[in-house]
Amino acid sequence: MSRQLFIFAIIFTIIASVGCSSKDTEKLAETQKKLATVISLGKDLMPVFKRSCGVCHNRQNLNSPATEHNVYYENIDDITNKIGKFIIAGNPDESSLYKICEQSYPLSDEKIVMPPPGSGIPKWTDQELEKFAKWIAAGALKN
Ligand code: HEC
Repeated sequence: MSRQLFIFAIIFTIIASVGCSSKDTEKLAETQKKLATVISLGKDLMPVFKRSCGVCHNRQNLNSPATEHNVYYENIDDITNKIGKFIIAGNPDESSLYKICEQSYPLSDEKIVMPPPGSGIPKWTDQELEKFAKWIAAGALKN
């Protein structure tokens, strides 16, 4: 009887520890996933802004109509100074800058389509847009 109990205790311990460790693994995977989905403005988005927008909207290009209204996409500050105006933290769909990059921004009857068609500059890909949306949704941090 006591031997049976002993075996039972061992089996119970094994089951309990397996259950526990798989839970720990799950938790770790969840944490890793969360960390991996934090989008960095500097690392993840700036290279895209520079490639698709900054090539024209930069401070070396002062004679171009692209910079006529001080529209620059060269550095992190150029993006964060648009928060509250063209970027609405927490809400990508209300963020006109996001809509412009998605090429779905209406301006009266005309759409602002950027980069301009025929310019040869690549637009934002779906994956890049998803990152931009996630960054805005997560609060548009200066990160
Ligand atoms: C090939 C050069 C070029 C690229 C690349 C480009 N733009 Fe432009 N952009 C222009 C020019 C030229 C104008 C001004 C002429 C016009 O209004 O059509 C302009 C105008 C704008 C305006 C309107 C400014 C105003 O006050 O009327 C915004 C906003 C803008 N661009 C955002 C962007 C964004 C965001 C990107 C990247 C997705 C981008 N642009 C990429 C050339 C470019």
